[in-house]
Amino acid sequence: MSTRTGLRTHSCGELRASDVGSEVKLCGWVHRLRDHKGVLFADLRDRHGFTQVVFRPEDGGDLHQVGESLRPEDVVQIRGEVEKRPDGKINPKLPTGEVELRAKQVVILNRSETPPFEVRDSLSVSQELRLKHRYLDIRNPAVMEKFEFRHRLAHDLRQRLHGEGFLEIETPFLTKSTPEGARDYLVPSRVAPGSFYALPQSPQLFKQILMVSGVDRYFQFVRCFRDEDLRADRQPEFTQVDLEMSFVEEDDVIGLVEVVVAGAVGSALGIEIPTPFPRILYSRAMEKYGSDCPDLRFGMEICDITDLAAESPFQVFRNVAESGGKIKGISAPGAAGSLSRKEIDSLIPFATEAGAKGLAWAKVEKDGLTGPVAKHFPAEAGQALRERMGAEPGDLLLFVADEETVAAQALGALRVEMAKRLDMIPKKTFRFAWVTEFPLFEKDSEGRISARHHPFTAPAVEDLAILEERPLDVRARAYDLVLNGAEVGGGSIRIHARDVQKRVFATLGIDEAMAQEKFGFLLDALSYGAPPHGGIALGFDRLVTQCLELASIREVIAFPKTTAATCPLTGAPAGVEDVQLEELGLARTGPAPGQRG
Ligand code: AMO
Ligand code: AMP
Repeated sequence: MSTRTGLRTHSCGELRASDVGSEVKLCGWVHRLRDHKGVLFADLRDRHGFTQVVFRPEDGGDLHQVGESLRPEDVVQIRGEVEKRPDGKINPKLPTGEVELRAKQVVILNRSETPPFEVRDSLSVSQELRLKHRYLDIRNPAVMEKFEFRHRLAHDLRQRLHGEGFLEIETPFLTKSTPEGARDYLVPSRVAPGSFYALPQSPQLFKQILMVSGVDRYFQFVRCFRDEDLRADRQPEFTQVDLEMSFVEEDDVIGLVEVVVAGAVGSALGIEIPTPFPRILYSRAMEKYGSDCPDLRFGMEICDITDLAAESPFQVFRNVAESGGKIKGISAPGAAGSLSRKEIDSLIPFATEAGAKGLAWAKVEKDGLTGPVAKHFPAEAGQALRERMGAEPGDLLLFVADEETVAAQALGALRVEMAKRLDMIPKKTFRFAWVTEFPLFEKDSEGRISARHHPFTAPAVEDLAILEERPLDVRARAYDLVLNGAEVGGGSIRIHARDVQKRVFATLGIDEAMAQEKFGFLLDALSYGAPPHGGIALGFDRLVTQCLELASIREVIAFPKTTAATCPLTGAPAGVEDVQLEELGLARTGPAPGQRG
């Protein structure tokens, strides 16, 4: 790769001992300045690295003056001679650390104002300030390297998909609602006032239609838009590696995707990722990990102790067991010794936040249990509990009694929290898994039946017969890809028969007229020889976030939104002129933004 241009001969990361003696031109930003008894040193930075530039007094007063006038983040061109650094001044941490550039001529390409933060410290300033001056933040090599990783992974995934015969095809952004469970972003139409496009929550329907077209294997790196409450792992616009295949069953999609993902992620990280990935039934994931995206980097699986608890004199446990609930627990290794009473108590609000009504606990000692619950499990009962939970002396047992899923989910959250507090999560460990056999439907907060994934997922063939009578028992031909406890992909085999699609719509309470109005184009396409097909979408930002073991998805998106869905750099979203609204046939119901009380 050459970065040579008319303005520079080399990048700032390029010069080596073998270049000593040559005359070169570098361009870059002034990173750091030092004055050693009149000898000026400036570290010059660009995306490719750093080069130390030296201004020697004997090379002339004018030159020295320019050197002295430099300020951090000025952007300059420096012509000079590559010199070997004196022994003892070699910097083994820098690829260019054996040499320095002796400045002969400096051209100030552009001065910089005093930056609001030092580029090299950008990770320690507030999110708001970093995003407002994102251009400065990205100059920080620790930030830039994430985008280089993201690029490499994207490039490699593309290559591999191309190698597997996939066609990259773009689908529209100005379209009709594609439901994935979030709210749509709407775009008003000027030519049809009162009508709106919806930005796609995913290209789901277009990719299915491409299968009807005979494309056979499609993929796309595509932006998706979802107006939902934001969290560390969610953005209102994000990127999917979306793909779809014809004439496939679950194993075909899973098999292909795991080879492509393991290959690309492994090569980007420089490690071997074994395939096949383990597969876990949804029901088992909920039971053992209290989550549909289990983190397999550590153990601490959830145990059911309902039978043992039902026999104990502990009223809380007995009541729950008698009313059909479950008592479940985890054994946190070594936590009895390492956590203070105060720290254990601090777990209680954590558990209640996760839905539990309370948290019971006991410490495992050599000769029995201690702690508030211990007295309810004396001698043999305590021993039975210990054996069931595989606990050793020094472990802390944590229990939640509740309706089954509540108990599992609360303990699932505690499991992850305990692993963090106990430092049980190994670094640079990447555990992929497939979660399969999800329920096709679930009840939403208003008690209505809704699609757990999206309404185009095929029901398990054996469950078709109970679709109308017992919809909540119908399993989906769906699979999620999980990495280190995060959902990094979701997909399914689709419905390709028009009548099944209509039955699923009917179960969802979408009547014939509404189905025709909203999804008539899909139903039409399905009636012209739609092949069996299925696919998946990888959440690309999340995948990169997990690979780099970062806390927030925002770190791998160049211009992300804040949790309030705003962009501190541009100030979006922003108000519009009244004439624009008029053109669109829209009227305000409240004051214009900025004019509010
Ligand atoms: P799904 O809704 O599961 O499936 O999305 C696929 C993956 O996209 C990622 N993801 C997100 N990433 C960042 N911010 C968000 N707001 C966000 N929402 C989702 C997740 C998720 O696993 N059309 C289907 C795919 C299919 O069936 O083929 C779909 O969009 O990592
Ligand atoms: P109580 O008998 O209500 O004082 O509760 C005794 C202990 O049991 C307290 O530490 C509570 O936090 C705990 N506890 C209460 N309800 C539950 C529950 N549903 N599951 C687990 N522990 C609980």
